Amino acid sequence: MIYQGWGNRLLNITAAIKRVLPAPAFNAVRSSPYKLRDLIQPPPAGEIIPPLSLQTDGPRGFDIFRANGREAYQYYLSEVGVKPGSRILDIGCGVGRKTIPLLNYLGSEGLYVGMDIDANAVKWCSRNITAEHPNFVFFTLDIFNKFYNPAGRIEPANLVLPFPDDSFDYVALWSVFTHMYPGDVQHYLDEARRVLKPSGRIVASYYLINPHAKTEVAAGRALWDVRFYLDAQKCWTNNPNIPEDLIGLEEDWLRGAYERAGLRIAEPLQLGGWAGRIVPDQFRSLNSQDIVIADKI
Ligand SMILES: C[S@@+](CC[C@H](N)C(=O)[O-])C[C@H]1O[C@@H](n2cnc3c(N)ncnc32)[C@H](O)[C@@H]1O
Repeated sequence: MIYQGWGNRLLNITAAIKRVLPAPAFNAVRSSPYKLRDLIQPPPAGEIIPPLSLQTDGPRGFDIFRANGREAYQYYLSEVGVKPGSRILDIGCGVGRKTIPLLNYLGSEGLYVGMDIDANAVKWCSRNITAEHPNFVFFTLDIFNKFYNPAGRIEPANLVLPFPDDSFDYVALWSVFTHMYPGDVQHYLDEARRVLKPSGRIVASYYLINPHAKTEVAAGRALWDVRFYLDAQKCWTNNPNIPEDLIGLEEDWLRGAYERAGLRIAEPLQLGGWAGRIVPDQFRSLNSQDIVIADKI
């Protein structure tokens, strides 16, 4: 048993189910109780917050959704350097967990573009956010991902971001490269660099596999059991049935990928709590993953 305690037992059971069910079946089973809960516990009136059934992009619950968002907001301001006039591209924005707290911060001169391969999440964001905040816009990418969009028609390695070069101050990918293979990550980094302004920054989170993480996983102390190596893709997963459920990338490889893309990593990396590192209390959930900030060279 890798995870201990009741919460972690639940993670174990979920992980075991995911290893046998196809992704659409797993996602349908996972969401159905929340559709019922939406009736009993709808989103609080007057607040922009998605129903529980749509909160598939992280832990579900109104309090935890808000708390995750607050952490990301603080991080954007204090660590990334976002300002009211910034232009931000958030790839894999989900259902706006890290977007909503920015609504009253970005000024009318700022711009936020959210993109995701989950059409339902994008639809909710467009309807509930853009209507009141026109400088927050959302687009669906019909990119294939075995876990999040198994019917997607475009391979991730063929993504072309529909923006001219030098368009954004910041590109964010929160917990997106944790679901993608190395070759596709390289392509996304190349595209992200292209659309960044010359002074632009990219912030992304990962499960980085390095000697420390390997020791923690092997000893059963890591949050995720990322012990399956995929020879063809040269990366790690906790779920060989649907590897995109959770992917770990070799840190050495990733450093090379940033260099090849023309991105300079801000050192030190903010290695995450998932593999037993102590992380700042105010970023405990965000920095559960390894966070990499890099500047366009
Ligand atoms: C764990 S959720 C994180 C959502 C959001 N970034 C957050 O941190 O709250 C992962 C998101 O990445 C999206 N995603 C997965 N593969 C993607 C890809 N190849 N391109 C863009 N988004 C992708 C999923 O649809 C999902 O919304």
